[in-house]
Amino acid sequence: MFNSIGVIGLGVMGSNIALNMASKGEQVAVYNYTRDLTDQLMAKLDGQSLHPYYEIKDFVQSLEAPRKIFLMVTAGKAIDSVIDSLLPHLETGDIIMDGGNSHYVDTERRYDGLKPKGISYLGIGVSGGEVGALKGPSIMPGGDKDAYEKVAPILTKIAAKVNEEPCCTYIGPKGSGHFVKMVHNGIEYADMQLIAEAYTFLREKLHLEVNEIADIFETWNQGELKSYLIEITAEILRKKDEATGLPLIDVILDKAGQKGTGKWTSMQAIDNGIPASIITEALFARYISALKEERVKAENILTGPENVEHKLDKNEWIDYIRQALYMGKVCAYSQGFTQYKMSSELYGWDLPLKDIALIFRGGCIIRAEFLNVISEAYQEQPNLANLLISPYFAEKVTDYQAGLRKVICEGITSGISLPCLSSSLNFYDSYRKGISNANILQAQRDYFGAHTYERRDMAGVFHTDWQ
Ligand code: 6PG
Repeated sequence: MFNSIGVIGLGVMGSNIALNMASKGEQVAVYNYTRDLTDQLMAKLDGQSLHPYYEIKDFVQSLEAPRKIFLMVTAGKAIDSVIDSLLPHLETGDIIMDGGNSHYVDTERRYDGLKPKGISYLGIGVSGGEVGALKGPSIMPGGDKDAYEKVAPILTKIAAKVNEEPCCTYIGPKGSGHFVKMVHNGIEYADMQLIAEAYTFLREKLHLEVNEIADIFETWNQGELKSYLIEITAEILRKKDEATGLPLIDVILDKAGQKGTGKWTSMQAIDNGIPASIITEALFARYISALKEERVKAENILTGPENVEHKLDKNEWIDYIRQALYMGKVCAYSQGFTQYKMSSELYGWDLPLKDIALIFRGGCIIRAEFLNVISEAYQEQPNLANLLISPYFAEKVTDYQAGLRKVICEGITSGISLPCLSSSLNFYDSYRKGISNANILQAQRDYFGAHTYERRDMAGVFHTDWQ
């Protein structure tokens, strides 16, 4: 009997995807470049059935036609090597899927290279971490629609479900699936940083204990802030370090890592004139955190404001922070979805924004209750310029801006850095103004470089002899 699908790359994510497929009744062939991971996976099987292969040729030949091969290999050169090793054994119509965090530009290059060879290439965004891969991730497939349709029965089966609907939908051509995953990760960076800032305010300004902050996050997770990241933050704050008995969070080194997808999101936005300031602030917050040794030295040289302690009503301020966090999240997701919209127009992808919000509701890291409302906003107005101006969110941010303003003012006066919350408000305050201060910039550019300017009151291009 032939296998229905093959998985290459048996690290944790690949193993879990393979196990997920097997648990849904697929006959899954598995292969890893080195034999050890295959053996480890086979040793830990618990009733599931996977079929291991130790030669790439045997692996490929075990698959039914058209062959469906799912790569869960570290993004980068390794993907190209695996493709090269597969090619001699493939036939026209076979389908390679890349489920890793590949850069969408690499995916397009691979797609273009394989097309003339008759091999279909799908770049598939997969979100949900290890547990998601095993139990149901959010899946963002991009490439040729007819190729997607051949693998859709398997992908929709292994995806997370919300109201019995699979969190998997066809995203669009070529690299669009990986693009959507990339920006998902950028939003993830912003969402994580916003939560970190809310935590900092609760801890440093309201002087709450870690356990009390965990209670607050748990409460928030029962309301409109309900989301995976809020939920896990509450759990993280409850965890004690076995060695010291301290909250584990207090012994974790405050230096953030990153693997690049957030940076790519900012770079793509910057390259294409897309305002992704909140995601970019989140990225820079990670970079500044990484300068730990410098920060420790600077602490003894640089001072903050003095006499900042005054009584704040605890419950009142907890609610301001809740409002600030919600509004920050709305601004961050609105920038991410604008990045989808503007890029979709730029690349001619026709991204289904309503459906993207729907498949983000389950499985993925940024899953959140308010994605339902985001989806509704795009259902009502498919060409919505920005989520902030949709009736639901316009009303919300009108109500919540006072909370965000108070938190930022108090934070700034107290010397607490709140980069993403501040960036959210700066974005909001610039976006809601019909008139900006760019007239000054235009005048300066014309003054020193004769770069010309346009006028508000008549068409044309003008230059002034300023001196
Ligand atoms: C997901 C995650 C996943 C991974 C991030 C981590 O959606 O499942 O986004 O892809 O955890 O890439 O990214 P950083 O290491 O850059 O924080």
